[in-house]
Amino acid sequence: MFRTRHDHRPEMVQVFVEGRALMVPEGSSAAAAMLIAGLPAMRETPVSGSPRLPWCMMGACFDCLAEIDGVANRQACMVPVAAGRCIARQHGAREVPR
Ligand code: FES
Repeated sequence: MFRTRHDHRPEMVQVFVEGRALMVPEGSSAAAAMLIAGLPAMRETPVSGSPRLPWCMMGACFDCLAEIDGVANRQACMVPVAAGRCIARQHGAREVPR
């Protein structure tokens, strides 16, 4: 679906997707990193448990909610990768501290 231009050679950064080290192009989003990792779903909806993957990649649909660097409910398509960033699937609704 998406291809990198053949004349574009970005620097690569290491991130951790579900604890697995992965090299991704600098400037990619965390959602792109999760897609590169080949996960079958990024999250499940809190009510029905329906699996979700990023859809719009521009911050409109919220289907890419993920836990990034320990913070849940982040729109992964709006968060750029950074060296050492930890990206994890979100299961159901996030916990709200009381
Ligand atoms: S993929 Fe739609 S908001 Fe992130």
